[in-house]
Amino acid sequence: MDNTGRSLISLEGLDKKDILWLLDQAALFEAQPNRKILDGKIVATLFFEPSTRTRLSFETAVNRLGGRVIGFSDAATTSSTKGETLKDTIMMVSNYADLIIMRHYLEGAAKYASEVSPVPIINAGDGANQHPSQTMLDLYSMRKTQGRLDNLNICLVGDLKYGRTVHSMLTAMRFFNPTFHFISPDELKMPEEYKEYCCINGIKFEEHSILDHETIAQADILYMTRVQKERFTDLMEYERVKDSFILKNSMLEGTKDNLRIMHPLPRVNEISQDVDSNPKAYFFQQAKNGLFVREALICNALNLL
Ligand code: CP
Repeated sequence: MDNTGRSLISLEGLDKKDILWLLDQAALFEAQPNRKILDGKIVATLFFEPSTRTRLSFETAVNRLGGRVIGFSDAATTSSTKGETLKDTIMMVSNYADLIIMRHYLEGAAKYASEVSPVPIINAGDGANQHPSQTMLDLYSMRKTQGRLDNLNICLVGDLKYGRTVHSMLTAMRFFNPTFHFISPDELKMPEEYKEYCCINGIKFEEHSILDHETIAQADILYMTRVQKERFTDLMEYERVKDSFILKNSMLEGTKDNLRIMHPLPRVNEISQDVDSNPKAYFFQQAKNGLFVREALICNALNLL
C-alpha cells in the first residue's frame, strides 16, 4: 500500500495480488455484510466536495460493521471557513478518529493529508486526479459481470479530461491487458500524461470523437461518464460539450450479450432513461457493490483483515 501506513491514496501503490485479494475480501462482505469487525472504531468522513454515493456507502459500511461515524458533508459548516488549514483539520480529526475518509476539490490533497496524518487516509476523490475506491468497485463490478478482469474491451465515454474515475481505472487495469477506447469531445480528451502512462505500461488504446455502433458492438464494458460542470472555468465551453454523447436504448441493439453499461454516477443526460430497463444496464448494481468494496477497504486500512 502507498503512503502512510495503510492509507489508500491511489491504486499506483497496489500490485495485482493486492487488488485481487481486496476484491475477494469484498466478495466475502457481500456474502456477510454485517460482521461487527469495527466495534469500538470511529471513522471520520470529511467531504469538502458534494457526494451522495461515496459518502453514504462509506458511512453505511462503517455502520454495518459496528463502528461509528463522525464528520461533515459540507465544509462551509467547519472551521476551514475561518481559515483553518487542511493540515490542522487533519491533525484535529486524527485526535478523534481511527481512520479519515476524505474528498477534496484539490488534486493531491489526499496525498498531502496522508503525509501529515497519524491515522490512515482513504482518498474519496481529489479534484480531477484519482478516485481509488470507485475504481475498486468498478473492478469488482466488471469481474462479477464478466467473470474475469483480463482481456476486456472497455469504452470510456465522456469527460476523460477531468474524470478522476477513468484516471484511476487506467492505473488499476494495467495488470489485466485491457483494450480501451477513449471516446470524448476534443475539449475533454484523455490528458497526455495518462496516454503516456498507457504507453509505458503497455495498455492498448484508441481515441474516438464519436460514439459509433461499430465501437460499441465490440465492447464488454461501456463506461459512461458525466461532463462535470464544476470543473469548467468557462461555462460556455461546458454548454458546448455537455450533451456530446447521449446513450439511448436503441444504440444497444446488436451489442454483445455480456456487454454491461456502467457509470460512476451521478448521471445528467448522458444515459437516457430508456436504458435503465435494459438488462445490460448495470449502474445501480455497480453503486450497490460500492458498499461491499468499501467495507473491505475500511477494514484493510485499519489492518483488521
Ligand atoms: N461516484 C461518485 O463518486 O458519486 P458521488 O459523487 O455521489 O459520491
